[in-house]
Amino acid sequence: MYSRIIGTGRYLPERILTNADLEKMVDTTDEWIRARTGIERRHIAADDETTCDMSEVAARRAMKAAGVTAKDIDMVVVGTTTPDQVFPNVGCLLQARLGIHGCAAFSVEAACTGFIYALGIADKFIRTGEIRTALVIGAETISRMVDWTDRSTCVLFGDGAGAVVLRADEEAGIISTHLHADGKYKDLLYFPSGVSKKSKDFLAGTDTLVMKGNEVFKVAVSTLGRIVDETLAANNLDKHDIDWLIPHQANMRIIRATARKLDMPLERVIVTVHEHGNTSTASVPMALDLAVRDGRIKRGELLLLEAFGGGFTWGSALIRY
Ligand code: ACO
Repeated sequence: MYSRIIGTGRYLPERILTNADLEKMVDTTDEWIRARTGIERRHIAADDETTCDMSEVAARRAMKAAGVTAKDIDMVVVGTTTPDQVFPNVGCLLQARLGIHGCAAFSVEAACTGFIYALGIADKFIRTGEIRTALVIGAETISRMVDWTDRSTCVLFGDGAGAVVLRADEEAGIISTHLHADGKYKDLLYFPSGVSKKSKDFLAGTDTLVMKGNEVFKVAVSTLGRIVDETLAANNLDKHDIDWLIPHQANMRIIRATARKLDMPLERVIVTVHEHGNTSTASVPMALDLAVRDGRIKRGELLLLEAFGGGFTWGSALIRY
């Protein structure tokens, strides 16, 4: 038994923040941002818009595309590090919105790799026969964590949500997922406070995401190269067998490096980073939905999804769409 993607959806907030807007906020230029990251604009959640709000729209679109209703869903898994509340988790909040009752619903906190983790978990439940249909989301209001006076980070991030519906099928489907983490890198990319630990800045109301961009960049490039090799080797595949690369959309230079590793022309890579910056765990399911809806990705093609994020966490999924 395998799980197959039977529907996808995405949501981007209405408010758009361009590089020109950022030029007025911090000491930066459109040219610098494009050259170093490939980003042109990002979408920012409205003041009263939450991760659950965005997840709901993406989920409804994915469920509609899949032709399923609330009663068909046997599990809700939401990858996010920016939940509305500590509890109930976003999965439960989303259940209530969608009128889904009784099945397991939970969040997975793995930074930018959250969606890949969520996909891996839901896939295992379907493969064992425990559930038949799962709603899997990646959603983030990461703009709420960003220091909008720090030019080295604020130009990078944006908000959004992506969703897929998975269903049991005798044909693959998700062929394999590969999930990893190494906490020794915890000081390169982090948000300082939580519930059991609060930094001085948190108490002052000024806690923000911290990133050593240069070091993150180097580890991201080498780690994503390794996960690509691991995924191909585990499935006895050659890099030329992959039809589409759907990478985490953090930085165009990281995406290019991974594409080079796969010997893939950029035309076979789904790139959205220019449109919305780094939306953390929302970026992979949003890119997938875009390319499914615009007709680039077709049934039967082989997709490689990969992500890398704070932790560090990283992972991949090989999918026969
Ligand atoms: N505008 C203009 N100048 C800037 C800006 C800016 N927005 N930001 C930094 N600079 C300056 C720096 O101050 C530095 O100036 P200096 O040489 O006078 O000291 C210079 O630009 C170069 O800075 P670097 O940090 O070395 O620039 P780099 O080429 O490494 O690019 C970047 C920075 C884009 C952040 C890059 O390191 C990167 O993409 N890192 C990975 C970040 C990432 O992808 N994080 C997320 C992965 S995990 C996740 O998704 C959560």
